[in-house]
Amino acid sequence: MSASEFQRIIEEFRLFSETTKDLAALEEFCVSQMGTRLPRYDWVGLYMLNEYDPGVLVLGPFHGASTEHVHIPITQGICGAAVAEGMTVVVDDVGTDPRYLACSLETWSEIVVPIRVNGVIVGEIDVDSHTRKAFGGEDREFLEECTAMIGSFIARYRT
Ligand code: SME
Repeated sequence: MSASEFQRIIEEFRLFSETTKDLAALEEFCVSQMGTRLPRYDWVGLYMLNEYDPGVLVLGPFHGASTEHVHIPITQGICGAAVAEGMTVVVDDVGTDPRYLACSLETWSEIVVPIRVNGVIVGEIDVDSHTRKAFGGEDREFLEECTAMIGSFIARYRT
């Protein structure tokens, strides 16, 4: 994927975020656009921390096969690690990572990027790929721009 295609997609996300005040609509738009336009993004989902139990991630909109991992404690999985460590986690080969919670036998690699609101993690974007070592620096930058945009959106409209 070229850097300019990532930039085009980010620009569309920004434009969409300026035309809605509906977080669920924005999340749905981002997830479906990534899942349909980015070839190695075989599963894309948003997990948000449960407002009443911030030790648990809850699956929101996703694009791809359904998963049994609808609730993930932050002590488990690559998804939990991204929250617990407070940073983007990239796994080139999930088969070698003992933290990995399997969703699909076809998944080879995964990237999880935290969403922050005023510096505090509120959720994350999780992307799985059927390609080994699918996610590099450009994917990380692109997804970190997406999470920053979603975090700013939440900060703007949160009551
Ligand atoms: N693989 C994730 C679980 C979520 S699925 O990828 C949809 C993990 O290890 O946390």
